[in-house]
Amino acid sequence: MSERTKFMLEEKDLPQAWYNINPDMPADPGPVLHPGTKEPVTPDFLGVLFPMQLVMQAVSTERFIEIPEPVREIYRLWRPSPLVRARRLEKALDTPARIYYKYEGVSPVGSHKPNTAVPQAYYAKQEGVRGFTTETGAGQWGSALALACSFFGLECHVYMVRVSYDQKPYRRIIMETYGADVTPSPSDRTQYGQSLLAQDPQHPGSLGIAISEAVEAAVSSNGKYKYSIGSVLGPVLMHQTVVGLEALKQFELADDYPDVLIGCIGGGSNFSGFAFPFLHRKFTEGKSIRALAVEPTACPSLTQGLYTFDYGDTAEMAPIVKMHTLGHTFVPPGIHAGGLRYHGMAPHICALYEHGDIEAVAVGQVETFEAAVQFARAEGILPAPESAHAIRSAIDEALEAKQRDEERVILFNLSGHGFLDLGSYERYFAGELEDYEYPADRIEEALKGLPVLAS
Ligand SMILES: Cc1ncc(COP(=O)(O)O)c(C=O)c1O
Repeated sequence: MSERTKFMLEEKDLPQAWYNINPDMPADPGPVLHPGTKEPVTPDFLGVLFPMQLVMQAVSTERFIEIPEPVREIYRLWRPSPLVRARRLEKALDTPARIYYKYEGVSPVGSHKPNTAVPQAYYAKQEGVRGFTTETGAGQWGSALALACSFFGLECHVYMVRVSYDQKPYRRIIMETYGADVTPSPSDRTQYGQSLLAQDPQHPGSLGIAISEAVEAAVSSNGKYKYSIGSVLGPVLMHQTVVGLEALKQFELADDYPDVLIGCIGGGSNFSGFAFPFLHRKFTEGKSIRALAVEPTACPSLTQGLYTFDYGDTAEMAPIVKMHTLGHTFVPPGIHAGGLRYHGMAPHICALYEHGDIEAVAVGQVETFEAAVQFARAEGILPAPESAHAIRSAIDEALEAKQRDEERVILFNLSGHGFLDLGSYERYFAGELEDYEYPADRIEEALKGLPVLAS
């Protein structure tokens, strides 16, 4: 085992291909259904929404899909990202566990999101569309897509959840710096937004609503714009596998191998990209590993949601998929990890969870910030509130290993930094953060709106 702290790869070690888990899936993630007919979608329908290359990747059974060179060229601006042994955190916890983290906060916008934004923009440019529409919560995804669009000379129209638009101006300014046009959602630019504003001019918005607006804007543009999604969809998870593929190589340098992988889950993209290459090893070489997905108690889709078919958005315009869902009209409490406030979950993750290949846990907001601060004081990096969920569970695993006097090897994905989330830290230090328990009544209400399918 190496005595080093940082395990860096060279640019030449950047993966040549993404890992596509489709051919290795031990359980079927289920079909994608048309929101109107509720029949399986055709590539033509999806092609109206997404670049065709993405649609083809969604159904591909090729195990490795080449990363186009123009995408690799951009990845090289920050990739390969570091793998770090958290030696100072180990000491602070006085644990026999070895803790490693893969750090995605080194990307220009500070998170893993550009790993998929860049290829999506590349494919859209190749198809000759004018630009993308998309949604964003607190702005991590929107800033990643704005960056990618600026690299490829595409327009980027972002519908940003209104509460975040009002409360978190800095990410909006980043998006605007890259040339994106940012609209608070609900907006008067779409029919759906207009209908909501007519009921409530002060409507705070939600991620599901912003998705509906972005989808409507793309579909009604006669092909000028496509819709870009930052998580959930199979190809998006696949683009993120650069993270896990690099980590596998870095563990060779460390002369070690993880026993447990830990990542936070909003729609499932950073966790998948990080864990799938290790699961590939497990499926094909029998190399055992635990994979633990961490979600907030305020929005516990995997641990408490129903595994059934539901719409991807609030207005029922996006495709229906099989997933653990809290109901597409569910509006989660306003926790500070904005990127984890989604009612559903990537179908691939749900199928793997049901099959027993993935474990999941829900953690509270206050204990998550406690872990974030402990990590920052030991390792120096101030984590994004989303990523801090993974840190919470990594610390819990390390403390459990200590109790059992076990040399457990823990790897977590530090999906982003929290430099633009300082308001949340300020509220934590002021003792103003609330812990939300499972919002049972609201979820029960939202689950009444599930689509009715012909059996
Ligand atoms: C830093 C960070 N981590 C994690 C997430 C959760 O998304 P996903 O589950 O798709 O990785 C987000 C979403 O915005 C994010 O910004």
